[in-house]
Amino acid sequence: MNKYEGRWQTVKVDVAEGIGWITLNRPEKRNAMSPTLNREMIDVLETLELDDAAQVIVLTGAGESWSAGMDLKEYFRETDGKPEIMQERIRRDCSQWQWKLLRMYSKSTIAMVNGWCFGGAFSPLVACDLAIAADDAVFGLSEVNWGIPPGNLVSKAVADTMGHRQALHYIMTGETFTGKQAAEMGLVNRSVPREELRDAVVALARNLLEKNPVVLRYAKQGFKRARELTWEQGEDYLYAKTDQSNYRDPEKGRKEGLKQFLDDKTIKPGLQAYKRT
Ligand code: COA
Repeated sequence: MNKYEGRWQTVKVDVAEGIGWITLNRPEKRNAMSPTLNREMIDVLETLELDDAAQVIVLTGAGESWSAGMDLKEYFRETDGKPEIMQERIRRDCSQWQWKLLRMYSKSTIAMVNGWCFGGAFSPLVACDLAIAADDAVFGLSEVNWGIPPGNLVSKAVADTMGHRQALHYIMTGETFTGKQAAEMGLVNRSVPREELRDAVVALARNLLEKNPVVLRYAKQGFKRARELTWEQGEDYLYAKTDQSNYRDPEKGRKEGLKQFLDDKTIKPGLQAYKRT
């Protein structure tokens, strides 16, 4: 029995064995992100954040697409004529889940790129902590092909993950590239044959599930923020994150990890995580 069955119209959510599976669920529209989907995704992420059964989140798409990007009809054409204040809100919903919530989400996130990934879909892709794609998934910064520069923070997302020349090449030509190429360029962690995609994602999620979730949260937030800080600011900020992690961690992982290595001699932290009780 899935407790989230039927709760959202454009997104499907299943929770199993510690993993919260979020599936963008408009396969007939290649999972294009409409204003309704954006609004629902805010609720989905806020709901799963408080669901202890979902410790690692996987974001994927129904059918043959991860996401065909922003919905050209519902997000662009149909909002053109709407009152200015409503357009503002529609944009805000989009940024709210794709960046503000997802990028610093309190749980670990993995993008499982099962197929098409275009334009605006690069935002949630890069906002996820980790990403695994099918070798033959197809990516494209297609905005130039239909008449706009990449919108929202897409250009920043690719500047942050792909090399300068490669990013500009794809922004300016609109050419597509495969999951394999995306891995070579660092846009995703790796790519695997399509039939192995789910198993690869589950194996990665299980690795993360063994780790202390509070430590993971501050480690990833520290890394993401540190990219934009000076060395001086970074040092102060990262020490503060370490202290915050120690203070907030209910399982006192640091103490336990040191005990298992130094006193019990049951682990070698260079090779494995401490055993969580
Ligand atoms: N926005 C709105 N609708 C979209 C969409 C998008 N981004 N991508 C696909 N769709 C819709 C199509 O309009 C079509 O709807 P219809 O059945 O009502 O006509 C349906 O999804 C299926 O699309 P179709 O083009 O027939 O599928 P395909 O499998 O042949 O091709 C794509 C898939 C993804 C290559 C193609 O749909 C495409 O190029 N989409 C636009 C991608 C894009 O430029 N995204 C950037 C947005 S920022």
